[in-house]
This record gives sequence, C-alpha cells and structure tokens, in this order.
Amino acid sequence: MRLPLDHTVRDDQTPSPIRLADYRPPAWRVDHIELEFDLGIDASEVRSRLQLARDPAQDAPLRLDGEGLELLAIALDGRPLDEGTYRYRDNVLEVDGARDGSVLETRVRVRPAANTALEGLYLSGSRERGFLLTQCEAEGFRHITFFPDRPDVLAKYTVTLRADRARFPVLLAGGNPDGAGELPDGRHWARFVDPYPKPCYLFALVAGRLERIERDYRTADGRDVRLVIWAEADVIDCCGYAMDALERAMRWDEQAYGRNYDLSVFHVVATHDFNMGAMENKGLNIFNAKYLLADPDTTTDDEYRAVEAVIGHEYFHNWSGNRVTCRDWFQLSLKEGLTVFREQQFSADMNSAPLKRIDDVALLRRAQFPEDAGPLAHPVRPAQYSEINNFYTATVYEKGSELVRMLAGRLGREGFRRGMDLYFARNDGRAATIEDFLTALGEANGLDLSPYLAWYGQAGTPRLVAEGRHDPVRREYALTLRQHTPPTPGQPDKRPLPIPVKLALFDPDGRMLPLQDGATEQVVVLDRAEHTFVFPGIERAPVPSLLRGFSAPVILECAYAPAELALLLTHDTDGFNRWEAAQQLAWRAYAELRDERDRAALTVWCETLAGLFETMKLDAALLADLLTPPGEVELAERETDVDPARIHALHQALQRELATRIGNAALHARYHDLASDAAAALDAASQARRRLRRRVLELLALVDTAAAQALAAAQFDQAATMTDRLAALAVLVRSAAPQADAALAHYRKRYDGNALALDKWFAVQAQLPGEAALARVRALEADPRFTLKNPNRVQALFGTWARGNPSGFHRADGEGYRLLAARLAELDALNPQVAARLATAFNGWQRLEPVRRGQARAAVAGLADRRLSRNLAEIVGNMLKA
Ligand code: ARG
Ligand code: ZN
Repeated sequence: MRLPLDHTVRDDQTPSPIRLADYRPPAWRVDHIELEFDLGIDASEVRSRLQLARDPAQDAPLRLDGEGLELLAIALDGRPLDEGTYRYRDNVLEVDGARDGSVLETRVRVRPAANTALEGLYLSGSRERGFLLTQCEAEGFRHITFFPDRPDVLAKYTVTLRADRARFPVLLAGGNPDGAGELPDGRHWARFVDPYPKPCYLFALVAGRLERIERDYRTADGRDVRLVIWAEADVIDCCGYAMDALERAMRWDEQAYGRNYDLSVFHVVATHDFNMGAMENKGLNIFNAKYLLADPDTTTDDEYRAVEAVIGHEYFHNWSGNRVTCRDWFQLSLKEGLTVFREQQFSADMNSAPLKRIDDVALLRRAQFPEDAGPLAHPVRPAQYSEINNFYTATVYEKGSELVRMLAGRLGREGFRRGMDLYFARNDGRAATIEDFLTALGEANGLDLSPYLAWYGQAGTPRLVAEGRHDPVRREYALTLRQHTPPTPGQPDKRPLPIPVKLALFDPDGRMLPLQDGATEQVVVLDRAEHTFVFPGIERAPVPSLLRGFSAPVILECAYAPAELALLLTHDTDGFNRWEAAQQLAWRAYAELRDERDRAALTVWCETLAGLFETMKLDAALLADLLTPPGEVELAERETDVDPARIHALHQALQRELATRIGNAALHARYHDLASDAAAALDAASQARRRLRRRVLELLALVDTAAAQALAAAQFDQAATMTDRLAALAVLVRSAAPQADAALAHYRKRYDGNALALDKWFAVQAQLPGEAALARVRALEADPRFTLKNPNRVQALFGTWARGNPSGFHRADGEGYRLLAARLAELDALNPQVAARLATAFNGWQRLEPVRRGQARAAVAGLADRRLSRNLAEIVGNMLKA
C-alpha cells in the first residue's frame, strides 16, 4: 500500500515511511567539511564550512538536514545570505543559489545539557563533573550541524575544538591530531584531521575531565599507533582488560583478514550514559561503560567475554563499516551482520568455539526468533522504515551474522578470505550494498551467490522438516528435507531459500559413518521446497546429526526417538549438536509435563544428563550448558494461548525432575568439589568451574532449598569474584530465601557508588518470579538511585523485568502492562530510542491467553492514543497492526 505524501501537515504520529525502492544518489555531495566547536555545557556553538559538489545529472536545490538547530549565521561563497534566499523548516535547510564548488558556512547553537535523547552532542554525568560527547549513528549529526545526513555522502573532516581548559582539559575528535594550543581567558584548542573520507554518522568528539591509559602498537604493515583508553578518574583502573582485548583484536584482524589499522591514534572512551552498546566512530570509539570497564570485584565472567567481544566488534568496524560503509540504512546489516560475524569468529578463537556457538544460538533463539515470529518481523534488509533507530535489531545484527556464516561456510576458509579481500579492495572508500558484498564473494570464487539474496529480503524463520528412511536391502539412507517459511506482516507468500545443512550419520553404536569420499561430515544444500538426498552403503539405520554447528538459522523439525537424541547427546563429535540434542530432549520433556503425557523423553533426558554428570569427564562449562533447558521466553515461543505463570511453574518442575534424578548427594558433592577451588582467576577452566557451580546451586535450590540457600549465603559472603557473588545473590532472591534481604542490603552498601554494580542490584531483583515482581519493581523505581534518564538503569530494572522475566511481567490483572505503558510514555519524552526498544517487551502479546491478551492490547492501544515520538509510534503502530 502506498500512503499519500503530504508535505504541508507534519504529524509525528503518521510519518511517511522511507523505502528502499525510492533510493536516489545524493544530488549534492560534500567533499570537505571544516568544523569548529566552541564548547559549553549549556550551549555550544558550531561553525561549519562545507565544500559542495553537485551531481550534474540532477537538478535539485541544496537541501541539508538539521534538527533542533538555532541558526545564528549563514553565508554562501563568502556572502551572508539574505532572508528569503534560504528556508529552515521541517528539519530541512534549503538554500538558493548554490553551485557546484560552492562553499556554505553556517553557525548554529545547540544545547548539550538539555539533550536527554543522548543523540547528537550531549552531556554524560553531572553538570559539575560530567563530560561532553556525541553519538551520531544513525542520524545524530543533523542535531549538531546542517549536513546531508545520509551514509553515502563521504567527506574529509577537519575539526577544531575550543573550550575552557580547566573544565575541559581533554579535547578529542576522530582522525589524527593536528595541533593544539592556548587561547586567551583560560581557553584552549585542539585540531584533528581525518584523511579518510567518511559519512557523518562516524563523526565524534569528546571533551571534559578524563583520565587515560595508553599503549604503543605496531601494525603488521609497520605503522606505529598510540592506543588510548579514556575514562573518568574513578574507573580508569578498570580499563586494562579492554586494552589487552583491543590489542588481541587488532592482531587477530591482521592475521584472520589481513586488515591493518590506518591512523596514528586509536581512542576509546567510556561513558555511563549511552543508548547502545558502543559506537565505531573513526579513530574515536565510544563505549557504554558496561562493555568497557572490567575488574574482578564487579565484573562477571560473561561480562568479561562481552567486553572482549564488543571491543573486537567496534574495532573490526574500522574495515567492515568505516573503510567500506553502507550506501543507505537499508544496508545496515552489510556492516552489522558482517561485523557481528567477525566478532563471533574472534571470540571463538579467543575462547571455546563450541561454547561460543551455543551462546550465540541461544541468543538468536531468545531474541531473534521471537522478533521474526511477531508483529515486528522484518527482513535482514528491511524494505521500509519510519525510524531507522528501530532497526538496530536482533534480525539485522544476529540473523545478519548467520547469513554471513552460511556464505562463509559455502566458500570455505580460503574462499571466504579471497572473497573478503576482493570485497574490501573493490569497495574501499565507498558506500556499498549487500549486492556488492555477494558479488565480490562470488566473483572471487567463480560462483553465483545471488540465490542467497533471498535470505536478505524475506522475513520469518524457515521451518526445515527432515525425514529419514533406511532401506536395508539397498543399503541406502534417504533423507528427505522440506522447507516452508510462515507468513510475516506484509509478506504472505514465501519462497524457498538455499539452506545449507551440515550433517553426519551415526551408527547405532555411536560411531560416525563414512560419507562422500570417506569424509564423516558433509554439507547438502536444500535449494527448493523439497528434496531427497540419498546416502549409499549404509548397513544399519543411522541416527542423523543435522544442521551441525547450526549451519542455517532455521527451526529443525525431525521426529527423533528420545533414544536417538540420547545417542547424539552422548556421542556427537559436534559440541553444538550435543547441546542441541539436550535442548530437543528438554523441549519434549517439557511438553510431556505440560500435556501430562507419558514421560518417555523426560526419563531419557534425566537419565542421560545424570549419567554425564557422574562421569566427571565432560568440560565443566559444556556440562553446565547441557544441564540448562530452554528458558521461559523460548518455551513460550512455540505455544499459543501462552500463560507465562504456568510456563514458569513447568520450567521449574522440569528442572526439579532433573535435579531429583541427579540426586541431592551428587549435587552437594559436586558443589563442594567446585567450591574448593574458588579463586578469582579468569582462565577458561576457572570460568568453567564457576559456570557449573552456579548451575549446580540452582538445581540444588529446587530440591534441597534450605540447604542450597545456606550454601548461597555462604558463597555470597566469601565470593572472590562477582560471578560467584551474583550467582549466589540470584539464587537467594529468586528462591525468596530468608537471607536475601540481608544480602541485598550488604551488596547495596558495598557498591553504592558503582553504577555498573548497582545496575546488577536492580536487575537481580527485577528477576523475582511471579506475582511478587510488580511490588518489587515499584519499590525499586522509588529508590533514590533509580532514574529514567540513564539507559543502563532503565534496562536493568524495566528491561530485565519486562523482557527477561515473563512470569513477573505478564500478570493476569494487567498491572504489569499498565505500569510499563505509563513509564514508556514518560520515558518517550526523555529518550525515544530507549523507550522504543523497551516497548518491544510487548512483542508476542497476540499469542497470550485471552485474559492477558486483552489486558496487553488495552495497554498498547492506550499508548497509541498518546502523542508519541516517531520511534515509539512506529513500534506501537506495528504492534497493533498485525
Ligand atoms: N554501530 C553501533 C554498533 O557497533 C551501534 C550504534 C547504533 N546507534 C543507534 N543509535 N542506533 O553496532
Ligand atoms: Zn556494529
């Protein structure tokens, strides 16, 4: 449907969507921009000088984006412009008389301290002690100065910063430093020149009182680089781990992709006030503190790995994103999917590859599958949007990475490297498309990869149905694969996609059978609705191990007997598929409990895992993951008439069965065994022990509650790491232990000045299951340390509760929905990006049981009746449409 465009009426609630099909190259380019900032907390002045170039093929007036700018002066080719020769309205500045080669100069005022949306130039921290910084992706630059704010306008930047030296001793911008000095009245200046043309979303500056740690690095191609991490004085001691991770990431990109860093400095800055995880601004990465700061007293093992991953992610963007950028925002996954993939490879190389794969697939199922199955479903390359910030999603990031992984698997290690080399060489300094990416990968390997383009344009998670048939007479195994993708909003009919299925066949004794050319593993590609693959020379009916390593982002349906899954769980050589077999068994066990059926799968699940628990041979971290069934969000995913309270109860009951089968004595023994070595070391083995210890304590809490609570209380008191401390606290809080309040009070006192540790204090309580959650959330939002102005705090309390605690949020009386809707309205006035993301907690409301469904619909519809930001309006609108 095409909506009529109406330029005379502007109503934030009915914005006309932006469409991929409407893409036109820019009529005006900017080859060079000179920026001068006079920085102040309440007001900052920005002078800009744009060197313009006109596309001779187009005849459009010069139009520049600008939002909320106070225009102080404007001149074209050195002459101040008369009123009537320019117009600034509806966030566009239109200028008459510009020619190819013209220079446009503007001076504007912006107000950093009043900027609560954290987009453009804003203040992090307090007026007295905080610092100034920018966030421009996706469209923040237009909040700083007038510019064609689109990623296909690449300019060279010269940036001069001026400010009071005492208040802003550190002045940083992207690019290489190009001089600094004193000014009258206690002011000073610093200049930066970036030799690489870049889109404006990669511009950044930082100014304030910051401390630093530094390191010298020499790239493989011989460039000396100064690495600097900046943070406020109280946390500068927590930056060493990130520095080490940065060095590892830089070496890794040199070795894995032949990519070297390309400026003389690389700055990284930590802020507590940030809408996203981190930002890859050229030469000046800015990080949410939670992905940069790390020390044993406040950081969990998972968080250490997240710091390493995000440091890698932002660094890898220097090539996949910055040197080669996106033509338009529909191509966002070109940089994000690719960079998540590179980040995942890096983490797998630095840690355990199978454990990393398990984590990544669990995240995909928890975050992306529900998105793809609900009213917000969109392709990895969306066809239209109203607010681009709403498309920084698990689909664009995580599913996008899965698509790159399929391509990499198709080409093999060397072929993929050849393809990536060609992609970087051909598109360096360009704003590219997903077609450019597939073309380069294909051409470097003499292949046509265009069939994979369909994955980028089609939303929804494909179902892959597998059916095997063994013919003892012909000694053949025939595997029939079928695919279908359910409809998603706007896409009723789906095409078949190329689905690579990596597989192995196990004989009934658990040995892998030789397939083609004697190999034990093979990839077949299902590129139509249905196909049968025949494997000759198979004597006995085999057990197929399918989608090894999760070779495609699909939902596999295969009618395994429980004993066949037990065989894979015990014998599969693919660590991921071992875990997958445990997941499939747990699914079925759960369904048996739910439907009060025979307990065939439940028995096998418990028996097999209890057996593995006893052998002591398995890696502790893998065992911990095997002992973890799908979470409540995933369980709800496959049901209609969802009742989260019931799912919670069944999820508990399922794990209680497992704990009972393993037995109190074995759980206690293993807990003490793991506890006897509770040092703070960060090596893989120590982390694995802590991971298993946590799981054992959680299981114990289900069957020997008082004893587990006593153990948890002791663990909390004696913990040498945040991992152990938080694991203990979580068990105390969730099991409503008598020791919980004292532990929470103790934690609160100990970490009162530490923002990241306090976030965990809010989050752990927001996980309180069931009816009790609401009162706790209400109490916590009245806490003096709570504020809607800080995105991390909002996520810790409301995000954890509404998106990660289904039984606590989805109350039958609708109070949870009403509380969230009320806070969303408040938050929307402060920070639309954060409000819109939090609102996705309502995703899946259509599948709730009727009472909750009615309550949820009323809450969402009530929100839709208010005056909302474009961000929140789009999410709420889509939520009600489907
Ligand atoms: N490009 C950043 C990353 O590394 C994310 C920034 C997104 N920012 C936003 N406001 N949507 O993934
Ligand atoms: Zn990214």
